[in-house]
Formats: sequence, C-alpha cells, structure tokens
Amino acid sequence: MFAKSAKLHVNGVSHNIRFYEPYPFVVKKAAGKNLIDVDGNKYTDYWMGHWSLILGHAPRNVKDSLKRQIEAGWMYGTVNEQTIQLSELISKAVPVAEKIRYVTSGTEATMYSVRLARSTTGRKIIAKIDGGWHGYTSDLLKSVNWPFSESESSGVINEEQIISIPYNDLEGSLSILKKYSKDLAGVIIEPVLGGGGCIPASADYLKGIQEFCHENNSLFILDEIVTGFRFRYGCLYPTMKLDPDIVTLGKIVGGGMAIGVMCGKKEIMQFADTRDKKKSERSYVGGGTFSANPASMVSGFATLSTLKNKKSIYSKINDLGEYARKELTRVFDGDVVVTGKGSLFMTHFTKDGIAEIKNSADAAKCDTNKLAKYHFKMIAQDEVFFLPGKLGAISNAHEKTDIKKMITVSENF
Ligand SMILES: Cc1ncc(COP(=O)(O)O)c(C=O)c1O
Repeated sequence: MFAKSAKLHVNGVSHNIRFYEPYPFVVKKAAGKNLIDVDGNKYTDYWMGHWSLILGHAPRNVKDSLKRQIEAGWMYGTVNEQTIQLSELISKAVPVAEKIRYVTSGTEATMYSVRLARSTTGRKIIAKIDGGWHGYTSDLLKSVNWPFSESESSGVINEEQIISIPYNDLEGSLSILKKYSKDLAGVIIEPVLGGGGCIPASADYLKGIQEFCHENNSLFILDEIVTGFRFRYGCLYPTMKLDPDIVTLGKIVGGGMAIGVMCGKKEIMQFADTRDKKKSERSYVGGGTFSANPASMVSGFATLSTLKNKKSIYSKINDLGEYARKELTRVFDGDVVVTGKGSLFMTHFTKDGIAEIKNSADAAKCDTNKLAKYHFKMIAQDEVFFLPGKLGAISNAHEKTDIKKMITVSENF
C-alpha cells in the first residue's frame, strides 16, 4: 500500500515528517486512543494528529456536531454563526484576542502575523528561535533543523530578513536583537518548543524578550499553535503574566479539522482592516477560500466547550504526562532526559555528557538515531505509535494503563 502511495506522492507522504524508515504504516481509521492500519494493527497513538486531538480520535460530541453540520452544509464562504460562536469562546479565554482572523493552517497564521508585524512597524527583520517551527512559510523557514547555520531549503529568498536567537539564553538573545533593533519588526516564539524538542521556555526568558520588544516598539508574537488549550483552558502565556501583541493558535482549537487563528490586540489587528486603509497603509492579511468554514468552526467549538465544561480533563492528562516523564526517567536510568510539560513529553537519549536540555541545539546533540529506533521498536513490536523522533501527546482518551504499557515496552527496549 505504501509503494502505491510512493508512486503517487512525493516521498509517499503529504507532510515531510510523516515519512520514516523503512516506511510508514498506512492508516485506515481511528477512534479514541487508537489508530488502526490497513492490516488491522491497532496502535495506541501518541502522535494524535500532530498533537491536535486533545480529546482523542473522533470523540462523540465533536462527531455529533460535525454530523449535524454536514447536514447543514460544510462550506459557506460567507460570514456564519458557527464562527461567531467559536470566537466568543476564544475571546473569553484568550485575553489578547480582541480581534480574530481565521485561516486554515498554522503556517498561514504565522505568515500573516509576520506581515502584520512588518506593516505595523514599517520594519523588515523578524527574529525567531533556533529550532523554532512555525510552519512552512518562507518568512520563517530558517534555523529550524540542526545545523541551524545551513539554509532549510532552496527557493527561499530574503533569508537575511529572518534572524535567529538562542532559546532560553536571554543574554545571548538580547545581544543579537540589539544589533538589529532599528529594523526589528518582531520576535516570534513558541512558549514550549514543539518540533524543536518539547522544551519549555523559562518565564524569565520570555519576559526578557517581551520587555526588549516593547521598549523597541517591535511586536512580541507568541506562537501557541501547540500550547494553546493544551495545558489549561486558554493559552499558556497568562500563567507567566506575559502581554503578547499577537498570539497564533491552531491544532486543538479546530478539534482535528483544518484551522489557524491569529488573535491580536485591536490596535494591531486594525492594520488588517481593509475598509478604510489605503493599500500602502494596510496589512493585506488573508483568510482564504476555506477560512472559517463551518465544519472547522463547529469541531473547534465542540472541543473547546468540552474542555471548558470539564476542566478535570486537564488535571487528568497533565498528571499522566507527569507520570510518563517520571517513569521514563526511572526506566532509562540516567541514559535519557525527558523533557516536556503537562501532557506533552519527549525522551532524549543523552550522549557526550549532555545533562540538561534547554534548547534545540542540546536536543540535536542527543542520540537521535537511538530515539528513532526506540520509537520504531514500539511501532513494530508493541502497537504503540510515536511519530519517530517526535514528542508524545496524551489525550483524554488515554488512561493510566496505556502509559503503564508504554513504560513496560520502553523498559524492554
Ligand atoms: C508551533 C507551531 N507553529 C506553526 C505550525 C504550523 O501549523 P500547520 O502545520 O497547521 O501549518 C506548527 C505545526 O506543527 C507548530 O507546531
């Protein structure tokens, strides 16, 4: 089946990270905590749809909402009530969301945020983190994968307008930002590096960067596409008393349907208002054909409503994450550092004396081959699925017995 896929698709996949050696299994269906492949193998899934499925696969209330929406049409291309309902939830839970614009992927949300930062400041340079991942937009395709000094792709122009700074190293970051301060439109940061190794930022680091941005009249953009509604009902930034100018959301807020969201302060988002601005003054921020489609909106609404009404979901999955980190650290007995926060975790096999993982460079210096082997062993022998090399996400469909099984098979490895 994969050979067939490889004939039809580049690398056989539709997202680079979905390929792993020797070849990925092919999924037929999914329910709860499980992915089921075409051979009938039933995997306990820790990839959970690129970490978007906090309630598990196909939870009943989201499914019911989608079924009702299918009956009422799934693509309007107009203003709709479903969008207003989702936005009411988001704006109450995310203080910075004074104005919202929907798109259909996280990539677009960060791409437009960068444009908005350049429009509002009249400056060109955007700073990102070494190892930060914000999707495939050319505006942010730099310093993603180790070694950070190499270009990520041919075909990207004006790379010099993206600069990168070391995560969790305030002094090092500020010394770079100061050099570019006059032309610095904004800084974009994930409060927990997702693709870059599941590494939380310290509150002091984020506060220091924010302070620099605000004193320098640059925008402080937090990419909460992974972290938004992941650890609590709302974003992570209020827990650190941060005051970002723009926050991007995606993944969980679409409940597994395509979504990206830009949330921002009114005075910044108004630059995207095309009604009373000349072309030269506005930021032409899109949406796109499928933006705010009612299927994504009701799926997001059903997901957020469930999280809002049942906050115990967060204590359950955060506790399971804590348990997984503790037990993995125990079974690997000094060979790993397990990073993460709440229901997200990642096992790094240390080498060359690395004892702490504070940024993506530390993560890249770990034994990534061993990590891929570990994840692949669980796929091949244990019906446990982590996308090889990536962090694991626990959903409300997982139970302690699942984590215990994952620990046992880790011990076997
Ligand atoms: C932090 C972060 N930002 C942006 C994106 C891009 O989102 P999408 O894949 O929906 O374009 C991702 C995707 O994994 C992400 O993790």
